[in-house]
Amino acid sequence: MSSTVENVQEEEVDLTAANQVIDKYLNMKGALMPVLQEIQESYGYIPEPTVHLTAERLNVYPSQIYGVLTFYAQFHMEPRGRYIVRVCMGTACHVKGAGRIGDTIHERLGIGHAETTEDLKFTVEHVACIGACGMAPVIMVNEGTYGSMSVQKIDEVLAKYREME
Ligand code: FES
Repeated sequence: MSSTVENVQEEEVDLTAANQVIDKYLNMKGALMPVLQEIQESYGYIPEPTVHLTAERLNVYPSQIYGVLTFYAQFHMEPRGRYIVRVCMGTACHVKGAGRIGDTIHERLGIGHAETTEDLKFTVEHVACIGACGMAPVIMVNEGTYGSMSVQKIDEVLAKYREME
């Protein structure tokens, strides 16, 4: 999504928190992973300018950092929603209508797979089996698991999170 990448590059990021994280790990061996993890904790994702700041201050190439960010699925370079809606697309869920569940969620939130709502409340992701096949079709919202999903249940679950801050 080129527009999102442009947004990330254009965004103004307050680097104070990132500098504080780096201060803690400066001159420590193996600092890169914990620094990136804590930056993500602070910002909710890894903003582009923090990559360059980290590279400069830890004396590594930005390409090394991008390599790490690409390799580890835990890192995200785009803002993510407060609530991550994971739609299971595993076999059991697929058979029980996961496609329709996913379509309904996309329609209700107005975003596609791996996208985030403008208010940064929801991100939707399709995932492989989450190990709750007996409750298929299943979605998760952050740590919460919701089984036997139907269109009506989607509306109930989304309404619950919409009301939460
Ligand atoms: S296939 Fe969806 S939980 Fe296993």
